Amino acid sequence: MIHKESKIYVAGHNGMVGSAIVRELKNRGYSNLLVRSSSELDLRNQNSVYEFFKSEKPNAVVDAAARVGGILANRDFPYQFLMENMQIQNNLIDASLKFEVHKFIFLGSSCIYPKHAPQPLKEEYLLTDSLEPTNEWYAIAKISGVKACEAIRKQFGKDFVSLMPTNLYGFHDNFDLETSHVLPAMIRKFHEAKINNHSNVTLWGSGTPMREFLFVDDMARATIYALENQLPEHLYNIGTGKDITIKTLAETIQDIVGHKGEIIWDKSKPDGTPRKLMDVSKMADLGWTCQVELEDGIRMTYNWFLENIKHIKEVKI
Ligand SMILES: NC(=O)c1ccc[n+]([C@@H]2O[C@H](COP(=O)([O-])OP(=O)(O)OC[C@H]3O[C@@H](n4cnc5c(N)ncnc54)[C@H](OP(=O)(O)O)[C@@H]3O)[C@@H](O)[C@H]2O)c1
Repeated sequence: MIHKESKIYVAGHNGMVGSAIVRELKNRGYSNLLVRSSSELDLRNQNSVYEFFKSEKPNAVVDAAARVGGILANRDFPYQFLMENMQIQNNLIDASLKFEVHKFIFLGSSCIYPKHAPQPLKEEYLLTDSLEPTNEWYAIAKISGVKACEAIRKQFGKDFVSLMPTNLYGFHDNFDLETSHVLPAMIRKFHEAKINNHSNVTLWGSGTPMREFLFVDDMARATIYALENQLPEHLYNIGTGKDITIKTLAETIQDIVGHKGEIIWDKSKPDGTPRKLMDVSKMADLGWTCQVELEDGIRMTYNWFLENIKHIKEVKI
């Protein structure tokens, strides 16, 4: 059982997801949190990770550390996306088994599911068809992490669980226009158009694809739910269970940012898959659902962006 004094190691605590988990754990009175930046502990290095676990002996581990990036980064660095992610997660998973961590939470992504899987995506669709080729390197690493945790549950009866978040957004997101996800990119584009008095904003595609977005603090609450409860299965989707068109997303963000003008859809640019929605009924059946409505989450994220505009994250590939 995890309690407020349990030693919880959050790997990747500087990232968008890791920082939200640390924030939420602190808010709830968890007082024995263990964190290391990548410069203090390179999780690709097996010896360093084992030494760290041997001396610190965490009771629980959340793996929110990963090499993360978009289509361009995946295209240009397939080996790093495959290998570094496997190294990071393998070292954390194996050290957690060896040094008797009671609870391990692995964070993956909805890209583990097949490209043409039926919508909404159910956990059981894993490995039923081929992956989306643009991020298969990353997806294969994540699938191997899910399988490693499943194997440990099966063979050793230990409480290792995988959570697959939908698209996340929130504080500490990446706002680089070339490497960021759609939601933070739109916040920045509309904001810059507003302050530069540009009446038109051009966005990629037709605006018709449907996507799901979860506020990262809700993801943190789902992670803590999984930390505090013994979940009966090894894999759970985390999302809102609701999707919207990219066009509605753009209009909502434009309204919140306060930009007045026209949105031009550049239909020469690709739309991507028409729909991507998670089936979140397994978590809902256990009693966990998200709290933050999309509009409220976008408003909080935009306020955070304004307050932190001087040092927002811009990840280069
Ligand atoms: N963002 C999303 O929309 C989304 C959606 C679904 C799933 N997820 C999953 O959530 C997890 C975290 O994502 P994120 O968006 O928070 O990513 P992020 O902001 O890029 O953070 C990743 C963190 O991983 C750490 N890291 C990377 N390489 C490392 C290494 N070699 N050694 C030690 N630490 C290392 C980094 O630490 P330093 O800062 O100290 O270098 C960084 O803070 C990932 O597994 C991702 O797949 C994210």
